[in-house]
Amino acid sequence: MDEDTLRNRKGTSNECVVATNEDGQRNQVKETSTSLQKQIGLISGICLIVGTMIGSGIFISPKSVLSNVDAVGPCLIIWAASGVLATLGALCYTELGTMITKSGGEYVYILEAFGQIPAFLYSWTTIMVVKPSSFAIITLSFAQYAATPFYPGCEPPSIVTKCLAAASIIIITMVNSLSVKLANYVQNFFTAAKLVIVAVIIIAGIVLIGQGKTQNLTNTFEGAKVSFGSIGLAFYSGLWAYDGWNQLNYITEELKNPYRNLPLSIIIGIPLVTFCYILVNVAYFTVMTGTELLRSPAVAVTFGDRVLYSFSWIIPVFVAFSTFGAANGSCFTAGRITYVAGREGHMVKILSYISVERLTPAPALVFNAVFHLLLYVLLHDSLHMVSVFWVYGAGSFISLVLNRFTVVGRVLKVPIVIPILMVIISVYLVLAPIIDLPELEYLYCAIFIFSGLFLYLFFVHFKFGWIRKIMRPLTIYLQMLLEVVPAEDTE
Ligand code: ARG
Repeated sequence: MDEDTLRNRKGTSNECVVATNEDGQRNQVKETSTSLQKQIGLISGICLIVGTMIGSGIFISPKSVLSNVDAVGPCLIIWAASGVLATLGALCYTELGTMITKSGGEYVYILEAFGQIPAFLYSWTTIMVVKPSSFAIITLSFAQYAATPFYPGCEPPSIVTKCLAAASIIIITMVNSLSVKLANYVQNFFTAAKLVIVAVIIIAGIVLIGQGKTQNLTNTFEGAKVSFGSIGLAFYSGLWAYDGWNQLNYITEELKNPYRNLPLSIIIGIPLVTFCYILVNVAYFTVMTGTELLRSPAVAVTFGDRVLYSFSWIIPVFVAFSTFGAANGSCFTAGRITYVAGREGHMVKILSYISVERLTPAPALVFNAVFHLLLYVLLHDSLHMVSVFWVYGAGSFISLVLNRFTVVGRVLKVPIVIPILMVIISVYLVLAPIIDLPELEYLYCAIFIFSGLFLYLFFVHFKFGWIRKIMRPLTIYLQMLLEVVPAEDTE
């Protein structure tokens, strides 16, 4: 069975589906090409952003933000400022995304501005480490919250949480490989669920403030300890909770009317999350002092125990929902980065193939899942991953500034000071913690990023004949097994 047979078997090759209506006239119903379809509208776009941003961070990270600044006032400022940063960053991405309408986010922006090697390094670090580790953090939090009700009064055994996390990775990958629509339904459902729990916390907080519980919200700057590096570290924890603001730029090609829906989803989604995060933090402080918050293993659960009494169980259940939804959104978009990198020849070609029947980038999704499964066992810390992202974030913002000199005509234009400011902030975010507390891990990160250069030379630049000889039969075998073909060019 060759590629054409595969395409024709499913009848999805670039031909029209023709139907006959009641009057016997033939109508063209739908034209389906074997490529990723434009299926994501405004609501799904917003849910992809909001649903990935709100994961476990807002229910856990307040502790890490506070521990770096030691007072409620600066802590709330960091939360607000992180939201502003995410919003400014995303505004730059509205211009980038409407100017370069290819999927892949930073990958394509870096590719267009700086060429092959930096783009390859981006795809290498993102696909191999950054995405798998953030996915692992989310799925492990999911597993922890999902298992807790079954182990009252003690920690669930790590084998249970690891198995549950692995199961969630497999289920989410299956959902995403089966259907883009189904993945979107899952995303929308879980986004609605997490907004419910966020609303419950906010409303409870407002009621408590109404009852006069504001003692922890006065003298909020007392005892504040801030330094150049500690602010950077506090921002890392805050920004982890906001991570995901760039999700839609990874899937621009699949957006219906991207010129409208990309900016609108960003402009609605990110301020909404910022607003929620600030109010949720204020709510936490209505029932906990700073010290109590620092002692709490899971802030939201402690909040629930103190405020919701017999309904406190809803918090861990909804946090589990929230993390599951964020993992689904991450899986969806990470699959597209791998897919686009395969298409550009920076990853093996099979990763840019799509399922003939289901029109999903199944090989990329399965490949990512295997990596996620391997890596989450080794993982423990998100911090360094966030810093790796900002290295490339800086690259995208610089590319936006450079584009101003090279590309004429654009749908949207943000004031040039925003990307310039974002470049400075990104550099600060990368350097501040390193300068403040130089740790060996940062060196490992740099070595890891640059080790990609060898891979680039071997696999992309020289493209040795023997590599192709090994890959060819393997690609054909996998193609038949997964029933996938190269995507048709729809441009
Ligand atoms: N902000 C999310 C949280 O608080 C994590 C998002 C992970 N990022 C990603 N691109 N998958 O849990």
